[in-house]
Amino acid sequence: MADGVWELFGSLMSPGGANDPYPLYAKLRAHGPLVEAQPGMLIATSYATVDEVLRDPALGVEPAPGALERSILATNPPDHTRMRRPIAAAFTPRRIGGLRSAIQAQATSLLDGLPGNSADLMAEFAYQLPVGVICELLGVPHKDRTWFRPIAQDVAAALEFNMTPETVENYASASELLLSYFASLVELKTSTPEDDLISDLAKSEALTPAELLRNLALLLIAGFETTTNLIGNGVMALLRHPDQLARLKAQPELTPAFIEEFLRYDPPVQVTSRVALQPTVVNGQQIEAGTYVVALIGSANRDEARFPGADRFDPDRPDNTPISFGAGAHFCLGAALARMEGQVAFPLLLERLDGLRLESEPVRRDRLVLRGYETLPVTWNDSSSGTAPRR
Ligand code: HEM
Repeated sequence: MADGVWELFGSLMSPGGANDPYPLYAKLRAHGPLVEAQPGMLIATSYATVDEVLRDPALGVEPAPGALERSILATNPPDHTRMRRPIAAAFTPRRIGGLRSAIQAQATSLLDGLPGNSADLMAEFAYQLPVGVICELLGVPHKDRTWFRPIAQDVAAALEFNMTPETVENYASASELLLSYFASLVELKTSTPEDDLISDLAKSEALTPAELLRNLALLLIAGFETTTNLIGNGVMALLRHPDQLARLKAQPELTPAFIEEFLRYDPPVQVTSRVALQPTVVNGQQIEAGTYVVALIGSANRDEARFPGADRFDPDRPDNTPISFGAGAHFCLGAALARMEGQVAFPLLLERLDGLRLESEPVRRDRLVLRGYETLPVTWNDSSSGTAPRR
């Protein structure tokens, strides 16, 4: 076993580590592209090995408990293939493309609604926009957003590695609430179908009723916990690099390249994992069935061999294909939607919030897997008086 790998992994799981994982990733990469943390547990640290791990059909996902049990994220082929097909089909380009104007309208109305010239950007915008969009896509009534926010957060906490007895308990009760919520919504949409994803999926016979509810819970959670953090982490990357903020504001056509760099530089999903369903070979190394493999997405995106100057925020880097939406069979179904939300949100934010800057230091959430901010207090120039606010 390589000395210190287990300790480094332990540090990553600690609140301090989750706060700034990148130096720890660098130390882990120095141990090699695929390192043993303890017998039966490997960590993929480089871009090439993370990609290889996620694409290897011999490496499957582990079953999840509660609301995400038997969701596509927690199922292997052939069930995964059977369930993913109708869900992917419901994400038609027509439906996704059709959301652009709704995203624009929601983002505009959120910015219109900001009182004064300071706000917690997470609560007032970065959370609100993706949750509104996923509600629109699924056909979830907007009025329920406030109700399910804490519930969805408790379910999302199950994706973390360092669960406590308290988070396990919260997860169990939140799972039940979310599933029974979707059960009544499916009943409603079955009797009165609308043009939304729940109505479409309710008609599909490929999913059992229990599978349908669990995949709806997954879509709800995957649909905003992540995109919320793309917005928050992206805004912070701009605030820490004011020259790049000014550039993007002046040239909004650069937004797609900036989005890829936000995704690479500080990805909303940092880690995932697999288990060897049968013996396989990764990075030329024989792996026994049952071996647990951690795939460090956040580390892969900072791999110097793939991204020269990887620790630098650089939207101009050529061939920028971060692994932030995963790879292989479980590649993110919402990638196009998340990118579109970013492409609408960033130019609008910079245009509307002139002179955007931090009001006070932001607070990170104590999470490694879903990396983002709890609060992001910002201020901007007061357009009504035409002067910059006093600090
Ligand atoms: C920036 C935003 C997002 C990021 C960074 C992200 C990231 C990811 C990653 C890394 C995976 C693969 C996990 C693994 O292989 O273990 C994944 C899967 C998934 N994502 Fe996303 N996601 C984002 C937005 C969304 C949105 C908006 C939706 C839904 C509308 C969504 C739905 C899904 C689903 C359903 C899966 C599971 C696919 C499967 O298991 O076959 N994601 N996402």
